[in-house]
Amino acid sequence: MTIIKRIVPVIFLAANIFIAKAQTIVAVESQKNALVLQVTPKKQLNALYFGTKLANQSEYAAIAKQYRYISHTGEANMAYSTAGSIDILEPALAVTHADGNRSLALKYVDHTTTKISDNITLVSINLRDSVYNFDVTLNYQTYIKENVTEQWTVIKHHEKKDVVLNKYASANLYLQSDGYWLNHYHGEWAQEMKPEEEKLSHGIKTLDSKLGTRADLFQPPVFMVSLNKPATEDEGEVLYGNLEWSGNYKIDFEVDPNNNLRLIAGINNHAADYTLKPNTEFVTPKFVYILSDKGKGDASRSLQSWARKYKIADGEGPRLTLLNNWESTFFDFNEPKLAELLKTTKTLGVDLFLLDDGWFGNKYPRNGDKSGLGDWEVTKNKLPNGIAYLTKTAAEAGVKFGIWIEPEMVNPKSELYEKHPDWVVKQPQRPEYYMRNQLVLDLTNPKVQDFVYGIVDDLFTKNPTLAYIKWDCNSVIFNANSATIAHQGNFYTDYVFGLYKVLERIRAKYPKVPLMLCSGGGGRVDYGALKYFTEFWDSDNTDPLERVFIQWEYSYFYPALTSSNHVTDWGKQPIKFRTDVAMMGKLGFDIVVAKLKPEELTYAQGAVSLYKEYSEAIWHGDQYRLQDPWKNDVASVMYVDPNQSKAIMFNYLVSNRYRSGTIRPITLKGLLDDKMYTIKEVNMMPGQRSSIPGGTYSGKFLMTVGINPAVGAGDRASVIVSIEEK
Ligand code: DGJ
Repeated sequence: MTIIKRIVPVIFLAANIFIAKAQTIVAVESQKNALVLQVTPKKQLNALYFGTKLANQSEYAAIAKQYRYISHTGEANMAYSTAGSIDILEPALAVTHADGNRSLALKYVDHTTTKISDNITLVSINLRDSVYNFDVTLNYQTYIKENVTEQWTVIKHHEKKDVVLNKYASANLYLQSDGYWLNHYHGEWAQEMKPEEEKLSHGIKTLDSKLGTRADLFQPPVFMVSLNKPATEDEGEVLYGNLEWSGNYKIDFEVDPNNNLRLIAGINNHAADYTLKPNTEFVTPKFVYILSDKGKGDASRSLQSWARKYKIADGEGPRLTLLNNWESTFFDFNEPKLAELLKTTKTLGVDLFLLDDGWFGNKYPRNGDKSGLGDWEVTKNKLPNGIAYLTKTAAEAGVKFGIWIEPEMVNPKSELYEKHPDWVVKQPQRPEYYMRNQLVLDLTNPKVQDFVYGIVDDLFTKNPTLAYIKWDCNSVIFNANSATIAHQGNFYTDYVFGLYKVLERIRAKYPKVPLMLCSGGGGRVDYGALKYFTEFWDSDNTDPLERVFIQWEYSYFYPALTSSNHVTDWGKQPIKFRTDVAMMGKLGFDIVVAKLKPEELTYAQGAVSLYKEYSEAIWHGDQYRLQDPWKNDVASVMYVDPNQSKAIMFNYLVSNRYRSGTIRPITLKGLLDDKMYTIKEVNMMPGQRSSIPGGTYSGKFLMTVGINPAVGAGDRASVIVSIEEK
């Protein structure tokens, strides 16, 4: 075995730089963790360590001696591995230079540390190839209090002609532990977020998508890796990751010959060799990650709090409750019908009415999903007085008005398709292939970007009181090809850049308006998109029993205020169960209110006002997953407001076996030991009596002994408990 000599004496230079005679250590630190990099005497940047930070920074240099990074074939711990030189495991970056050469060996040049705010530090490390005029900057932006890091890479070259990026990942992490347990997700339409956990074996496990637009349909770009042993809700070391990218992605987990884990996350290079002009920068998407040594719950709360504060559009703001008409009317509506629904929106007590699909198209009216998509003119014989009349009627009814669009798509049966066949993603020599009878517009084309932006801008210009947009996206990309771009390898990547350009323009002009990210369910949820959207549509599956599981899994990564949960007629459960489940997020309804029985309506109205009373805890508080539906008869989730004075606990029966229910108390979390809290069952049906042992208890009691929500069959299948400081 080769042994590299390291010289330990260290001279302190700055907060995160140490020089040990020709050997620089760069430590990217948060409140709890340190990601430690080292520049070798040959100027190679290596990853030494990612874990709990040390009290004595000068000891970072000594880490290198404790682990094995070297194998028979060389060093495996490059901080950003490159193909074609001395690294022969999976690369983060692979290129073909202007002269056809495919090698890259990056050397450390220098680095800077910028204090962006009291809580945010950016470390940028410049690397340069020793032969070619090729530069890379690695960026690590750390949110100190939340222990969250966003990592991305800037690639540029000054070669005489174009360079092709064959692989261009955002980040490369290197972890050492006694084993790695990967928790990842798979699914299909209406079956989103099914978890699977497995111990990683040697070789590569890849999570990826090649679907183009609604890239998460089969596999979302979120994961957890537990180190040393599978982490639980409250114990163990776990890393969460999410690529902030709304298109094809690839995350490789390679357990190397030294049992270390090389993790590479970035845009999927499948059919995406990217041609980069000289003197232009390619900025990769950010890869966000958090490492916790206190289990999945702690990691999740930190990520949620980071996301609310720094990423999600209006993440710290309020959300609108709403009534949607999709499942109550589908395409079959007209002005009188909508006027009735607008009145019932007010009766229910929600803030907004959301008009869904089917309001546009004249030559080819959108009376079904086979025509009209792309023709964003209101259907005259359906809505003769236009959207302006509806927003006015909504205002008269005392509610806000929102609208559905699917601006990236086109039905072949549309005027748009007839006028601009070259705006459509298709292979000119091959037959068209459709998902939901539609095709995708080519957002790499600036004219299409203008068109898509124009749809939104036109709606707001003509209807200034429009208060909400649901942005749908129902097709993946088949026959990937653009009629206008020079290099088809750039297509998948430039599509997403095109989408972001449009969203940037929309947000520049309409910074506050709530936008729901919908993709026929959760087909496109990631922190790249949530920068522009206030919320997302988890799944078209609104069966409340299924939703307990789907929302549970999303909640590891995304805060409740982003999770659009609508009460519909899916499932067999009564209105109480359906509404209780939808309240664990952003509450909406998609039912015919007029068909509710009087007691159901009274219950629903009460639920809306209770929801508003507890929205501070649900939207902006800390979430505690108390009891796992996959392992218990009863699922239990709790939200605690930022002052730890008001909390709400949701409990659901998820098994129909004989005598299923809560036979023991469930211990609460996130309260203060010494505070006294009053416990009460809330959100009951009219006439329903509580069966829980309500009263006043100390936080210590509630978090040690707990309380029994008395969940069982029948009207005890769903129980909400309020916890309020006395
Ligand atoms: C798919 C969405 O998920 C639904 O909520 C609805 O908006 C339909 N599209 C409309 O076509």
